[in-house]
Amino acid sequence: MKTTDYALIFNQAKALLLPQYGRMSNMANLSALLYQYMHDINWAGFYLLDGNILRLGPFQGKPACTQIALGKGVCGTAAQQKKTLIVPDVHQFPGHIACDSASNSEIVIPLIQNGQIWGVLDIDSPIKNRFSDEDSAELQKITALL
Ligand code: SME
Repeated sequence: MKTTDYALIFNQAKALLLPQYGRMSNMANLSALLYQYMHDINWAGFYLLDGNILRLGPFQGKPACTQIALGKGVCGTAAQQKKTLIVPDVHQFPGHIACDSASNSEIVIPLIQNGQIWGVLDIDSPIKNRFSDEDSAELQKITALL
């Protein structure tokens, strides 16, 4: 069974993401780190909340939809509910927004600071049921570095 070395990702992220670099650059490097080191994924990136719209931020993978309304798709739902969503089969998720037809499962982590949501981390996999509670917990630890 393939595993993701989250300790490695966390340590690299800690060394790479520094406050003085600014959040945009840090998100760019974090999407690259996750894309490089997580197994069986085809997209990793950020959507940033601007009013009621999530706008595409730094990512790795195929070009993706640029705007998602709050409450729409997996990303908009996770952002609205301010909670992590693990979708084992995106084809069963009502309103799922298909950006890459290779995607079959997805995890979306809301990014929250002082109780306010400012964006989401979205990761897609071609494998159904790819993401677990461990992915959720580790990714929350990693995104807290932003
Ligand atoms: N599938 C997402 C849209 C973003 S892409 O997967 C990169 C959604 O339903 O919100």
